[in-house]
Amino acid sequence: TNRFAQFKLVLLGESAVGKSSIVHRFVKNTFDDMRESTIGAAFLTQTITLPESKTTIKFEIWDTAGQERYKSLAPMYYRNANAALCVYDITSRSSFSKAQDWIKELKKQAPEGIVIALVGNKSDLADSREVEESEVEEYIQQASEDGSSIITSECSAKSGDGVLEIFTSIAKSLPVE
Ligand code: GTP
Ligand code: MG
Repeated sequence: TNRFAQFKLVLLGESAVGKSSIVHRFVKNTFDDMRESTIGAAFLTQTITLPESKTTIKFEIWDTAGQERYKSLAPMYYRNANAALCVYDITSRSSFSKAQDWIKELKKQAPEGIVIALVGNKSDLADSREVEESEVEEYIQQASEDGSSIITSECSAKSGDGVLEIFTSIAKSLPVE
């Protein structure tokens, strides 16, 4: 590789949507059916290479705690973030609305130019789906009216489907010198 870049990425979203599970799938390629709820936040790193641009990207990942009592800590983690994953659970309507609240807050408070991804996790549970992809599209259209572009995708931390793709599209959206 010719180029190297390092970016800070934060995960936000309601408790139990699977933020930590997504990170563990990405970093360790493992999944735990009984993962414990995060306390405060967890820090992990992972590197990916984009062959097309011969670039290696190191993600410094802050996996925040979704429980309400930790909400006030979030700004510490997104304040200097280059990218944010706002995660919801496709089987939970309330978690989708919570993810939208995070996007709203990021637009107001996060650094200019932050790359935002809206991620629907637990795609393996499509039989219990409460959030349709068409609704997500509709929301994205409305949320993009101010010129911001938001990456959207579904994934399953359990099966691994779509997880690497999300980090790859974020990596491609980040500015490398
Ligand atoms: P907090 O740390 O409390 O904010 O939660 P979190 O968003 O980090 O959720 P976590 O990764 O701990 O996952 C919550 C539960 O959902 C766990 O029991 C996981 O095993 C389960 N889970 C996570 N991802 C998936 C998925 O893709 N599919 C299924 N079926 N279950 C999942
Ligand atoms: Mg967690």
